[in-house]
Amino acid sequence: DANSITDTFHRPLRDLRISVTDRCNFRCVYCMPKEIFGRDFVFMPRDQLLTFEEITRLASIAVGHGVRKIRLTGGEPLLRKDIEELVRMLARLRTPDGLAPDLAMTTNGSVLAQKAQALKDAGLNRVTVSLDSLREETFQAMNDVGYPVAKVLHAADVAQAAGLGPVKINMVVKRGTNDQDILPMARHFKGSGFILRFIEYMDVGASNGWKMDEVVPSAEILARIGAVLPLERVAPNYPGETSDRWRYADGSGEIGVISSVTQAFCRGCTRARLSADGKLFTCLFATAGTDLRALLRGGASDVELSTALSALWGGRADRYSELRSSHTPQDPAATHKIEMSYIGG
Ligand code: GTP
Ligand code: 5AD
Ligand code: SF4
Ligand code: SF4
Repeated sequence: DANSITDTFHRPLRDLRISVTDRCNFRCVYCMPKEIFGRDFVFMPRDQLLTFEEITRLASIAVGHGVRKIRLTGGEPLLRKDIEELVRMLARLRTPDGLAPDLAMTTNGSVLAQKAQALKDAGLNRVTVSLDSLREETFQAMNDVGYPVAKVLHAADVAQAAGLGPVKINMVVKRGTNDQDILPMARHFKGSGFILRFIEYMDVGASNGWKMDEVVPSAEILARIGAVLPLERVAPNYPGETSDRWRYADGSGEIGVISSVTQAFCRGCTRARLSADGKLFTCLFATAGTDLRALLRGGASDVELSTALSALWGGRADRYSELRSSHTPQDPAATHKIEMSYIGG
């Protein structure tokens, strides 16, 4: 459509992932390892965070340029005070054709049971909940704060019942840590109405000590499950979807694999990310963002903000995951990457 903007590879801007806080009450080993995110780690001061009005203003401009999906992330988005108020504000946005954008959230589930109904009432469409194992010992070691499996499962049930479904469950797979949980997770969620997605462990940020030999390729995950529970491929929901969809041949539901390491999906990547302090990133693996907060707080008009966004997206040439194999550990691109808790999952 006329308002859409495309980047240097003709990719339109369709998704906006908004990080509302860089804080989290978990310390997942692949995301916020305790050695880095310890007691004296300095998070963003409150006055650096975009206000709900500022977030909504930027989101409104992005929606005017073709964004159809807004995902709230973090850190842990439910730790942001009064988050349902932001949901209410974003739920009022309309695309130039008068459609409400899809409004979703990725959460660790720890505060979800108590917030699910309020989020639904405020206009949130759906949630994705992270869960890496069904075994207490493994899950508690991976979130590294001893958070129990049962509470996450309960929160996912409450969200599903509140109408925030179909709830997706994200499992980051690390070889030697939770790869023995692939089949038990598949069995547990088969026929449950939840959509389980297996995520290849990524080299995002610079603190998780990523090694290729800890990645379990999606092809291996599918082979392990498919050998016991036959699978059939399903067509993507939309072009550039992160997840390859599969369904059980017996009709008992759907799973997905997110293969950002072994089969990069940059070609169709339509995602922009807004950090909690108002920097816009055109790639999950970007080393720098554009400070939109400075524009906002410097008194820029909507037209100026809109022009800045078009220029930024128009110059976009990111395809980090496709180029990953050519990066050496000495590359600035490999060492100065922004943490996922900052830029938003
Ligand atoms: P749907 O709207 O349900 O399709 O969700 P989604 O897959 O876009 O969102 P979700 O937050 O569940 O993303 C799942 C995971 O995919 C993230 O946690 C990341 O690990 C990975 N991911 C999402 N977007 C990107 C991306 O643009 N690049 C890369 N490399 N990985 C991504
Ligand atoms: N690799 C893959 N996925 C990750 N996530 C966080 N860090 C990584 C990583 N290194 C995922 C979480 C959650 C979402 C916010 O991002 O599991 O589903
Ligand atoms: Fe927190 Fe999610 Fe990162 Fe885990 S993956 S530390 S829950 S932001
Ligand atoms: Fe998009 Fe960058 Fe991820 Fe590629 S690596 S899919 S360009 S965010």
